[in-house]
Amino acid sequence: AIQRTFSIIKPDATKRNLTGQIVAKFEEAGLRIVASKRIQLTLAQAQQFYGVHSERPFFDELCEFMISEPIVVQVLEGEDAIAKNREVMGATNPEDAAPGTIRKEFALSIGENSVHGSDAPETAAEEIAFFFSGLELVG
Ligand code: CMP
Repeated sequence: AIQRTFSIIKPDATKRNLTGQIVAKFEEAGLRIVASKRIQLTLAQAQQFYGVHSERPFFDELCEFMISEPIVVQVLEGEDAIAKNREVMGATNPEDAAPGTIRKEFALSIGENSVHGSDAPETAAEEIAFFFSGLELVG
């Protein structure tokens, strides 16, 4: 089925001017960008977005990293968009990511891993609503 998923191009990637190369990977995989904006998160916003990870040892490092530079938040649409996006991103740790994936080609480490993508339909809906109003989604 046609789905929507939420994506973040993270600070390590925007800083290295990789936004276009990452978007090209999404588009080559058949995903359409139906919403997109470049923003810089506040610490409170980062902590809220990553709230499910608040007890993890890497939480503070993760939030500090996510506010360190601008990010690009996007909604991607396509057939099985959630799984397709996860395939294009590759494994969380770039050392485990398959050849040709975004994280294999661009990620620096498990933390500075260039992209975030929703892991399930419920989280996709929540994450999209966190950053976008309905009017901003243009299919
Ligand atoms: P993301 O999909 O954005 O969701 C949670 C993030 O936590 C994950 O990507 C990783 O970038 C980050 N993360 C996971 N494990 C670690 C770790 N051991 N150290 C730092 N960051 C991590």
